[in-house]
Amino acid sequence: MHRCLAVSACLLTVAAAAGEASLREMAAKRKFLVGAAVAIGPLVNETEYQDTLKREFNICVPENAFKMAGLRPARDKFDFSQADKLAEFAAANNIKLRGHTLVWHQSVPKWLSDGKFSRDEALQIMKEHITTVLQHFKGKVYAWDVVNEAIHDKKPYAIRDDSFWGKTIGADYVEKAFEFARAADPNIILYYNEYGAEGMGGKSDAVYELVKKLREKKLVDGVGWQCHVPCGWKPGDAHAQNAERLGKLGVELAITELDFAIKQPTTPEKLQAQADSYRDTLKFCLSQPAFKALLTWGFTDKHSWIPGFSKGKNGDALVFDAQYKPKPAYGAMIEALKQ
Ligand code: G3I
Repeated sequence: MHRCLAVSACLLTVAAAAGEASLREMAAKRKFLVGAAVAIGPLVNETEYQDTLKREFNICVPENAFKMAGLRPARDKFDFSQADKLAEFAAANNIKLRGHTLVWHQSVPKWLSDGKFSRDEALQIMKEHITTVLQHFKGKVYAWDVVNEAIHDKKPYAIRDDSFWGKTIGADYVEKAFEFARAADPNIILYYNEYGAEGMGGKSDAVYELVKKLREKKLVDGVGWQCHVPCGWKPGDAHAQNAERLGKLGVELAITELDFAIKQPTTPEKLQAQADSYRDTLKFCLSQPAFKALLTWGFTDKHSWIPGFSKGKNGDALVFDAQYKPKPAYGAMIEALKQ
């Protein structure tokens, strides 16, 4: 690590040790939820990972452990062994838990995608899945991403017809998933979660129309903006406009997967730009009444999906470095919460 970076991280650590309030303490004062995605491996194996998570966050979400491919190894078999580790940790440390995700085209088990199922069979399997998972986590998970990333990136921004669910069931699979979820547990908050639909534009218009239709049927309660965005990104007028129109539908909002990837190599200037991005994004959420939570996708650069996904071109996207030291971004989030 660059020497200046090490020094600034060290100063922040000292501040934390000297009794500065943590993110979760500051967030609680603002009646806001600040959280992170959690990977089960380090949750089980690394004390620093556990300590940081329980000290800093009042909400969490599994990065992978609640996805269908892992929970449903066979049609007649559910495996909650990994998922339960997070549910237990969250309950023991008074951390709210979001569920991610019941239906996502990228997490379809092989037995399902290769199974040559009819529309009715696929609907039945989806219903069994949603019902069993929601009942298993009843009282433990307060909000679920029912459907994730269902809308195409390109015009006419229709429901994806190239995925297992779209091809086998048709575009109404989205509404069906929400119907099954509402029936399985009427007390939880049901989210539609999407990327690239944060500001105004064709894709966010499509999300708005979908949510409006679901809302008219009382099937959706929240919209997640993923926000996997580059360092330097900030919400502006278009994001405020989108948040306000969604808020008028009566849904709550959350930033669900925030990270600011830094194009390598990392420099002190880029870390400062990243800190500004984190500060402005959190300030934006706090200024919009519909926003209830902000979660980052992981919290330590040691365990982030970005370097693997970008083949090392991008990295250092989170607020703690690979040694669990707070980065300038951490101090910037604290600052936003203080204002
Ligand atoms: O655990 C296995 C390991 O046993 C195996 O050896 C290895 C070989 O590939 O794979 C490991 O599983 C990987 C898993 O991450 C855990 O690291 C999967 O291959 C890999 O596909 C999976 O990637 C995840 C991806 O979603 C797909 O599920 C990422 O960690 C996760 O960060 C990413 O998260 C998504 C959100 O759910 C939705 N929004 C976008 C976001 C980023 O892509």
